[in-house]
Amino acid sequence: MDIFSPVILGALSLSNRIVMAPMTRDRAGPDDAPTPLMAEYYRQRASAGLIVTEGVQPSPEGKGYWRTPGLHSDAQVDGWRQVADAVHDRGGRIVAQLMHVGRAAVAANKGAGVDTVAPSAIASREPIPGPDGVPVATVMPRALETDEIRHVIEQYVQAARNARAAGLDGVELHCTSGYLPMQFLSTGSNRRDDRYGGSTANRIRFVVETMEAMAEAIGADRVGFRIFPGNPYNDMSDEDPADTYGALIDALDPGGFAYLHLIHYATPKLDALALLRPRWRGAIIANNALTLESARALLDTGQVDAVSFGRPFISNPDLVERFRAGAPLAPQDREFLYSGEERGYTDYPRWAGQKESTGA
Ligand SMILES: Cc1cc2nc3c(=O)[nH]c(=O)nc-3n(C[C@H](O)[C@H](O)[C@H](O)COP(=O)(O)O)c2cc1C
Repeated sequence: MDIFSPVILGALSLSNRIVMAPMTRDRAGPDDAPTPLMAEYYRQRASAGLIVTEGVQPSPEGKGYWRTPGLHSDAQVDGWRQVADAVHDRGGRIVAQLMHVGRAAVAANKGAGVDTVAPSAIASREPIPGPDGVPVATVMPRALETDEIRHVIEQYVQAARNARAAGLDGVELHCTSGYLPMQFLSTGSNRRDDRYGGSTANRIRFVVETMEAMAEAIGADRVGFRIFPGNPYNDMSDEDPADTYGALIDALDPGGFAYLHLIHYATPKLDALALLRPRWRGAIIANNALTLESARALLDTGQVDAVSFGRPFISNPDLVERFRAGAPLAPQDREFLYSGEERGYTDYPRWAGQKESTGA
């Protein structure tokens, strides 16, 4: 499959198979609303077939990092509208990654008095950067009551509705990196004894119900999800990821969702793509440390429909055009990943001699 050929993922019509992976950049403005600078950042990268935004909290409780944007207030919806318009003006497509961090939170990064909730009262032992960028201990979470869980799912649903109201093309549920959905999925962080914990069928229930509820609200063909079976990030552990994710995919497969975004680390223990591809009839976007060459090889196997790139998009806003031209890639300045406003964010130049093209 040609990496530059168009592809349709559910209701999302992509002009090429190169997806910009979600990347938190900590530049939201007052009240966690997207700013004109963020609109400019995404506009510059709109020749990607699809942009998945940085993680976006569906509620104040879902926030755990400094200056991450939300999608639960009118000001935030207005900010995202600027982003969506900027990307659409260049012919691009963009979905919001909904990221509720659950227990992976630092109190000083949240609003005053905002709760930190998780499946169980087990703290993550992985420190998280505070407002000054220095890692500090996470908060001990409060275990959600069974009847509160419906409310958390409703927050995701409202955020999905808000995404559409802002003109974004859909949403991606962030189910990895040790955040709330993965906390439910994993045996190490979920010790519940109600219908959301214990058996595999119970541990996958939160994700399945959230996906189904968002699909009912905005259409399954505008809802994707991201997983990385066995990912230890943010102190995650699962006794049997193959069992957990096999069951999850079996449960979601009939739902007609837009795509599965799979961070694919094939290890001797678990080859996630080999495990899940035969069980998933929908589209797959594959990610992780891909190069143009390895991405093409993966597409050529016919196992995946699109490929996503994270870090290369930071310093190469015109990554698609550079790939097309065989142009060299610019290195990124790690110092300004999470700070610096326009520095290391919107000031990476396009490849010399190139005109800005539309995403078409
Ligand atoms: C600065 C930075 C921020 C990231 N933030 C997110 C995020 O908000 N949500 C997410 O799912 N992954 C996040 N990731 C992971 C990337 O989406 C991607 O999976 C990872 O960088 C590997 O792809 P790459 O090798 O092409 O960079 C982030 C990565 C980086 C470098």
